[in-house]
Amino acid sequence: MREKHPIHTTLSTDAMRILERYEKELGTKNTVLERALLGMDKLRFKDKIDTQSIIRIIRRIKTGIPGFDGLIEGGIPEGFVVVVTGPPGTGKTTFSLQFLLEGVKNNERCIFFSFEENAEQLINQSIRFGWDFGEYVDKGYLEIFGFSRFSTEEITEIIDIFKPKRIVFDSLNIFSDITDFRRSPQWRNILKVIKDKKITCLAVTEKSHGGSANEFDEFDFMGDGVISFDKKQKNEFDTYPTCNIQIQKMRLTKLNEIAHQFVIKENGIELIGNMGIERKAFNTLHANRAKIERITTIDRELRISLNSIIGFSELMIVKAPGDLNEKQERYVQNVHASGKHLLELIQKRS
Ligand SMILES: Nc1ncnc2c1ncn2[C@@H]1O[C@H](COP(=O)(O)OP(=O)(O)OP(=O)(O)O)[C@@H](O)[C@H]1O
Ligand SMILES: [Mg+2]
Repeated sequence: MREKHPIHTTLSTDAMRILERYEKELGTKNTVLERALLGMDKLRFKDKIDTQSIIRIIRRIKTGIPGFDGLIEGGIPEGFVVVVTGPPGTGKTTFSLQFLLEGVKNNERCIFFSFEENAEQLINQSIRFGWDFGEYVDKGYLEIFGFSRFSTEEITEIIDIFKPKRIVFDSLNIFSDITDFRRSPQWRNILKVIKDKKITCLAVTEKSHGGSANEFDEFDFMGDGVISFDKKQKNEFDTYPTCNIQIQKMRLTKLNEIAHQFVIKENGIELIGNMGIERKAFNTLHANRAKIERITTIDRELRISLNSIIGFSELMIVKAPGDLNEKQERYVQNVHASGKHLLELIQKRS
C-alpha cells in the first residue's frame, strides 16, 4: 500500500491503517480523509516548535525608518499585511516609500500601487529626500503604478509576474465600501497571493483628523498590524502640532504601544521621542499646577478667616460690643495675638 501511494510517507502508521481500512471498505481511495490526516500530521509537527524556535523562525522585515524597528522586535514579520492609517498629511506615503527604499536597497523587488498620485509625483517626492528611486526603477527592482486603475485580478497578475517581496497600496479607501471590500473575493484573492508568496505589504488607509486613537475601522481588523499616524499638539502650551506614530497592533509581536514623536527630515522620517515620557512630564506639570492652585485657595481662605478673627477680637478688646470681665479680656487678647501671629506666618511664606 505504501508503494502504491507515495504521498502517504509523512503519515503515521496509525493514519495509514485507517486509510487502508477505508480503502478496503469503499473499494477506492478516500482522498478527503487522506488530506485531513495529512493536515493533522502537519499540526503535530507544529506542536513540536517551542517558544524560542518560533521567535527564530519569524523573519522580520526591516522598515528602514530610524528608531521604528526596535518597537516591534526588529521589524514587521514577513508576509504581514500592515495597515498604515491616519489623517491627511501625516506622513503615511512618506513612511511607505521609505519602507520600499529599504527593500530595493537590499535587492528586493518592490511595487507601489498608488491610487491617488502619479508615478512622477512619487518619484519627485523621493528625490526630495535624496532617494534615487529612478535608478531602482531602471534596474527593475521597483515598479510604481501611479493613478493605478487596475482591477484586483490585474493586481494579482502583476504580483504573480513581478514577484515582489514588498508591496504598498496607497490608499485602500479608493475601493468601494470598506466592509464589502474586506469581504470581497477579489481582495481575498490578493491577500491569498500575498500570504502564499510571503510578501510584506503596507496598506494605507485614511482617517479623519481629531479621531480617538481607539476608533478602529474594518481595515484595522483586516491587517496583521496597524500603524497609526497623527499630528497634534502635545499639550496646551505648544504652538505647533507634533507628528506622532503609534503601533496599535502587530500580530506575533511584543510591541511598544507608546506613541512616538517623529520628524520628516531632509532624508525622510525619523523617530525622535517617546510621547509617553512627554505625557508623564505633562501630567507631572498638571499635578504641580493643581497643587499650587489648591495652596493658593487655602491661603486666601485663611487670610479671610484670620482677618475676621483679628477684626472681631479687636472690636472686643476696645469693648465695642460691651464690657468684658478680666478673664474674657485675657482670652480675647490671646485670640487676637494668635490670629496676628498666623497672619504674619502666611504673609512671610508668600
Ligand atoms: N522634503 C520634505 N521635507 C520635510 N517635510 C516634507 C517633505 N516632503 C513632504 N513633507 C511633509 O510631509 C507631510 C506628509 O506627507 P505625506 O504625503 O507622506 O502624508 P500622507 O499622510 O500620505 O498624506 P495624504 O493622506 O494626504 O496622502 C506633508 O504634509 C509635508 O508637509
Ligand atoms: Mg499619501
